[in-house]
Parts: sequence; C-alpha cells; structure tokens
Amino acid sequence: MGLLDGKVALVSGAAQGIGAAIAKAFIDEGAEVLLTDVQVDKGALTARDLGNKAAFQKLDVTDEDDWVAAIAAVKGHFGGLDILVNNAGIGEGGRLEETTLTDWHRTTGINLDGVFLGLKHGGPAIRERSDKWPGGGSIINISSVAGIVGLAMAHAYCATKGAVRLLTKSAALEYAQHGDKIRVNSIHPGFTETAIIEPILAQLAENGLAKNDAEAKALMGMMHPIGRLGKVEEIAAGAVFLASDEASFMTGSELVLDGGLTSR
Ligand SMILES: NC(=O)c1ccc[n+]([C@@H]2O[C@H](COP(=O)([O-])OP(=O)(O)OC[C@H]3O[C@@H](n4cnc5c(N)ncnc54)[C@H](O)[C@@H]3O)[C@@H](O)[C@H]2O)c1
Repeated sequence: MGLLDGKVALVSGAAQGIGAAIAKAFIDEGAEVLLTDVQVDKGALTARDLGNKAAFQKLDVTDEDDWVAAIAAVKGHFGGLDILVNNAGIGEGGRLEETTLTDWHRTTGINLDGVFLGLKHGGPAIRERSDKWPGGGSIINISSVAGIVGLAMAHAYCATKGAVRLLTKSAALEYAQHGDKIRVNSIHPGFTETAIIEPILAQLAENGLAKNDAEAKALMGMMHPIGRLGKVEEIAAGAVFLASDEASFMTGSELVLDGGLTSR
C-alpha cells in the first residue's frame, strides 16, 4: 500500500531537479503523474524512465493556453487530477539597480504568475473528484527559504517566493470558506543540490571563496545549521506527505525543509 495509491498528480518543472524527484516519489507511493516542463526532450526522457505511471506534456507555466491543454492531458491520460505541484521556477539574481524590467518580469512571470495560473486551472479539475479522498485534493506550491527571509542579490526571487507563501494561504482560506475539499500548502526548501544553485556555486569560485565545486557546495552547506545542502529526495518526501491523506488537517501551512537555516 502506497500513501498515494489511486491518486493522479501534475507536477510543473518536472524535467529535472526537485520536480523530477517529486514525480518519482509520488509514483513510488502509488500515484500516476503527468510531468510537465518547457524542456520537452529532457522532460519526455525523465517521464519515460519513470515507467507507465508517468506521462509528459509540454507546459510553459506562463502560458494560459498551455495550462488548459495540460489539464486536458492529465484527464485524458489518467482520468482526473487530485494533486497539483506548482514547482517550476527560476533563480536569477544580481544587483537590483542593474536589473531591467524585462528581467524582473521573467522571474515574476514564471515564479508567481505561473503559480496563479496553476491554481486557476488546476483547482477546478481537482474539485471534480476531491470528495473521493479523506484528505481531499492537494495543491503544493514550491516557495523557498527566500519566501521567509531576505537574500541579497535576489530581489525578484525573494519577492515572488514571499508572494507565493501568501498566495498559498489566501487560496487555502478561499477553498475552506467555500467548502471545497482542496488543501493548499507551501514548501520552503533551503539550498538544495540542483541546477538552480550552479550560478551561486560558480560565483563563490569566481570570488576566490572556493577552489572548486565541492568546496563551494561545502561553503553553501555551512549556511544551514545541519551543515550541508539539501537533497532533492528530502524535499520530495515533504511533498509526498502534503499530497497524502496523512496531511488531511493541514492547509495554508508552510513546510520548511531547510536544515535549520531560518531558525537562526
Ligand atoms: N534548489 C534549491 O536550492 C531551491 C531552494 C528553494 C526553492 N527552490 C525551488 O524549487 C523549484 C524547483 O527548482 P530546482 O531547484 O529543481 O531547479 P531546476 O532549475 O533544476 O528546475 C527547475 C525546472 O523548472 C523548469 N522551468 C523553468 N521555466 C519554466 C516555465 N516557464 N514553465 C515550466 N517549467 C519551467 C526548468 O526547465 C526546470 O526543469 C523552483 O521553484 C525553485 O525556486 C529550489
């Protein structure tokens, strides 16, 4: 018996990193998963490696037509939708005064508008059969420690991740108020070993603070009281819990998976 037996999930940004790990963990717990991403070839390969409980559909989270098509695809492949993970995100940084409005909008478009569109189009599909589960349907928004505390040189990233934190709470309250059995929670990872942190690792080496990638990772790891970076499987384990009926009394909450970073 898996924690997600019989459930169907859609994960955005699932070609690699945290999204791919969440898709794998969901399948390991019995779910069927539509992986989605803008990286079409990589996403299709990731889904293929996960076997016949996985399928892939191109979804640019900033494109409303893509969302309509992705929701139709998940219903077509697997018969409905119970779990949505708004995971797609980018982590551009730099000096605020050198950031163009186009740069700013690239981050806000993917990290914030993308979550809004996911809620708008995923919610109605989840509602169609959320009565089926003791814990109802589940929407999980991947925010960040940068949605709780500020990080220098990451203004747009922090702004969007903080906004996702409160968008999550507002949506959770709205569903509860309307008697919809849909829980909405956010996950706040600390720095986790994926492609998104590579520019930060490179910067540490460029500034002479680390001699190589391993030293840069160790240095970033020391930001966390636990003394290391997070692993994608550790973030995925939190998503499994929130998606499952074990989290039936949890909505509007923040699951912080950060090795103690924000406890200081
Ligand atoms: N790795 C970390 O340290 C960390 C920490 C906190 C939060 N997060 C968050 O976790 C989420 C996943 O990031 P990751 O660390 O796995 O990074 P990643 O770069 O490995 O994965 C991000 C994925 O999002 C996809 N993507 C980018 N733009 C998209 C778009 N417009 N539409 C659909 N997909 C798009 C990319 O193709 C990629 O597959 C992000 O929201 C990120 O902000 C990561």
